[in-house]
Amino acid sequence: MKILEGKRGLIFGALDEKSIAWKVALNAHEQGAKFVLSNAPIALRMGKINELAEKTGSRVIPADATSVDDLNKLFDESVKLLGGKLDFVLHSIGMSVNVRKGREYTDQNYDFTIKGFDVSALSFHKVLQSAWKNESMNDYGSIVALSYIAAQKTFPDYNDMAENKAYLESIARSFGYHFGNRNKVRINTISQSPTITTAGSGVKGFDVFFNYADKMSPLGNASAEDCANFCIALFSDLTKSVTMQNIFHDGGFSNTGISEDLIKEFTS
Ligand SMILES: NC(=O)c1ccc[n+]([C@@H]2O[C@H](COP(=O)([O-])OP(=O)(O)OC[C@H]3O[C@@H](n4cnc5c(N)ncnc54)[C@H](O)[C@@H]3O)[C@@H](O)[C@H]2O)c1
Repeated sequence: MKILEGKRGLIFGALDEKSIAWKVALNAHEQGAKFVLSNAPIALRMGKINELAEKTGSRVIPADATSVDDLNKLFDESVKLLGGKLDFVLHSIGMSVNVRKGREYTDQNYDFTIKGFDVSALSFHKVLQSAWKNESMNDYGSIVALSYIAAQKTFPDYNDMAENKAYLESIARSFGYHFGNRNKVRINTISQSPTITTAGSGVKGFDVFFNYADKMSPLGNASAEDCANFCIALFSDLTKSVTMQNIFHDGGFSNTGISEDLIKEFTS
């Protein structure tokens, strides 16, 4: 049985085949879902989203996730195109201008900070508010955004994205209350292991992050494919009572103090 058979969705953030959202789209298609793909207009020009749309029989609707107008149109068109309200939404969007421009955490350009906050964190509230006001979600739907453990613990080179992720996780709790009460819609964030993608690799020292987390985690780093599986599980009816959570999908990293692998590394 396909666990998303008959479900309709909206997937933000597939840029290329490395993107977590790309893997979620392939998986959702295999599991029988129909969905719309969306990304920022500039990403549509640079990325390969049309290839993914062809593979999954889906349509692409551009939207800048910081624009409320774009989002309202997107939800409206998606519901019309798919022939009914949505059962799932994936917010897989992140970008720090400070990181991109090589500005240290202690030397922020605050215009960059505000732009990165709007793209990476506030956009989640905008997506939810747009879905809420347009009444675009079916009862018992599920909305997921992607986060990182720098929301709880300091990873110096993650820069201002740490605050953006903390805000993102808080929105899932606050909006999760309202959407749960009105429509039984679930809202969760998945805190994913470091993953080799365009956004991930942009962080300074990413290789070290990646290898350190891999050696620290009893199960090793969670792959993008496993993250996609977990998203599908959260979209499905098998997780109907899970909401307002930040769930670590990290091979056990978040609850490990030190691993034997790392002890060996530091023992001369
Ligand atoms: N890669 C990792 O190590 C890692 C770890 C934990 C969490 N995450 C999170 O996973 C999510 C997806 O990132 P990814 O690693 O797949 O990288 P990615 O670069 O493939 O995806 C980021 C996406 O955000 C989109 N985006 C940027 N600005 C936008 C805007 N204004 N409107 C709409 N879309 C916009 C980009 O076009 C891109 O598709 C992000 O939230 C990221 O922070 C990534």
